Order: sequence, then C-alpha cells, then structure tokens
Amino acid sequence: THQWRGIIEEYRDRLPVSDSTPVVTLREGGTPLVPAQVLSERTGCEVHLKVEGANPTGSFKDRGMTMAITRAKEEGAKAVICASTGNTSASAAAYAVRAGMVCAVLVPQGKIALGKMGQALVHGAKILQVDGNFDDCLTLARNLSDNYPVALVNSVNPVRIEGQKTAAFEIVDMLGDAPDIHVLPVGNAGNITAYWKGYQEYAADGIARHKPRMWGFQASGSAPIVRGEVVKDPSTIATAIRIGNPASWKFALAAKDESGGFIDEVTDREILRAYRLLAAQEGVFVEPASAASVAGLLKAAEQGKVDPGQTIVCTVTGNGLKDPDWAVAGAPQPVTVPVDAATAAERLGLA
Ligand code: F0G
Repeated sequence: THQWRGIIEEYRDRLPVSDSTPVVTLREGGTPLVPAQVLSERTGCEVHLKVEGANPTGSFKDRGMTMAITRAKEEGAKAVICASTGNTSASAAAYAVRAGMVCAVLVPQGKIALGKMGQALVHGAKILQVDGNFDDCLTLARNLSDNYPVALVNSVNPVRIEGQKTAAFEIVDMLGDAPDIHVLPVGNAGNITAYWKGYQEYAADGIARHKPRMWGFQASGSAPIVRGEVVKDPSTIATAIRIGNPASWKFALAAKDESGGFIDEVTDREILRAYRLLAAQEGVFVEPASAASVAGLLKAAEQGKVDPGQTIVCTVTGNGLKDPDWAVAGAPQPVTVPVDAATAAERLGLA
C-alpha cells in the first residue's frame, strides 16, 4: 500500500534537492480540494476550497518548512529561528524535532492563538515573546540569523517559497488545468508569491493551459499593500495576518499585476461572517485568517466582480482548532440534562 510521501518526494524534480539531500518530512501536502456547494451557488461559479488545515501541523506552512528544515539540515545547521504569528513557529518546531535541531521562536507578545503557542511549547521550541508586533519579530530574527549560528526559516528564505508552490501543482494535477481565479489571504505575502510561482512553472511547461488571476485579501486593520504604505500598528482578530510590513510585498504586487488580479481588504466582521459560513454551511472549520479568502470572494461577488461559470479556488490556510475561541464566542452555551431520554429528546426538539 502507498501513502502520499510528502511534497519533496512527490515533486522532487521541481524542487531544489539532490539525491543526497536528507529529506525531513511529516508527509505534508496532498491536502483535500473540496467542492464548496454554498459558495458555488452564491457566485454561480465552481468554487473549491484547498484545505491546508489538513497538513500535519494544521497549516500550509508545513510545505515550506519541509524544504527549509531539509536544506538547513543539509547545510549542517544545528539550530533554526523564525518570527511568527503562530503557524510558522508551530511548523518549525515540529520539523526541527524531526531533524534533531534546536528551534528558536519569536512571537508578538499576547497576539498569537493559544493552539499555536501550545504546539511550539509541546514540540520543545525555545520561545521568546517579543514586546512588539510581527514585523519587529522578523527584524529581530534576521538580525540574530545574520550574527549568530542559527538558520532563518521564515519565508524570506527562498526555499520556503519553493515548498509552498507545490499547492498550486496539486490543484492543477487535480483539476486538469489551473483555475480561472485563485483567492488567498495575505499576511507576509509569501504564500501568494509561492502559488504564483507554481502556476507560472506549470504553465511554462505546458502542464496547465493557462494561469489564474491571483486575488489576495488583507485584513482592513492590517492592509499595507492595499493602502500602499506600512501600517505601524496593525490590528485584526485574524492574528495570523496581523502584519504591517510584509516581507514579500513586491512579489505580491508582481503576482497581482502579472496575473491581472487584485489585492483588496476585508473587515474583521466580513472575516467572521465567512468563518461562520464555512463552518456552518460547508462543514469546513478554519481559523479566522483563512476565512479572509472566502470573505474576499463574497465581497467581490457582491461588487459584481465575479462573472459566473468560472472555476475558482480559495485556499483556506489553517485549521480552526488552532484558535477555537472564535467558535465558542457568541455561541449559545449547551444546556445540561439528566441521564433521561425523554428530557434529552425534548431538549433536542425530537419529541
Ligand atoms: N493564513 C494563515 C493561517 C497564516 O498563518 C498566514 C501567515 C497567512 C494566512 C498569510 O500567509 O504570510 O504567506 O501571506 N502566517 C505567518 C506565520 C506570518 O508566522 O505563521 P503569508
């Protein structure tokens, strides 16, 4: 019997590895492409969700991290470091365990979801909470990797992008061609850069007949690319994309321009509405930042920007279990019943 081997083995000829590269993997990738019934009805399109929360540590970061840790291992690194809003650190911590490396993590104090903090802790990472935002953490991580024996595994490391581009390959392999539109949440802007690279490579080699338009969505309180200027004090409930000065800003603009797409913003209210729709009507539980792609698609549809009949893929980037507070908040508290069928049936509305 065969299982999915992880993105490096599955796409070896398209990644910067050699036969002697020591592959560090948790069998990431091979994630579900789920038809979205309600979103398809609402838009008159064929909408699919690329469910990246199904990766080993619960987010798309694993695709980049298998590459980054593999290459760090190959180069003899003993320790890695990252700045993170939570998911990168969870992923780095897990892959560092596999590689027998020390993992250092810098996170913005008080601004990462509990599930992600728990992951970094249980995998034994050395965590510092920085009195600053993600952008400050990244500056600090770059400084430390420049001056101390520790390898940087943020998406400014180009092999991260190489790993993450495999999500675009999987989508084309599954659909038989690229979608017409690809929709993503945008934070540090590494992922939109990676998907665009993947789609371009497959089109150049004739595996896809065309390339999609890339649509990216930032949270309104953290929308530097939309505004055209750095946001000094970014805010949003979608803590994963609470970033005011994205490292891959220029590449995100290139993806948008070259593909004929756009980058827009969605409010926290729109994000939460999409978050609840995904869970309650599509059966897909994602973290709030992930819902920014779907919120963006719905916003674009309301603005008349979505012609019917197109194939659209929305990446939902992280698992809902990472940040369950938003699922519980505002929901009615379940009632307590005695061990009694008649009462239970009555309370369930069955009787
Ligand atoms: N969605 C989730 C769940 C994320 O964790 C991130 C980024 C993004 C979207 C945005 O992707 O940065 O490539 O544009 N999280 C990073 C982290 C910043 O540290 O985990 P991007």
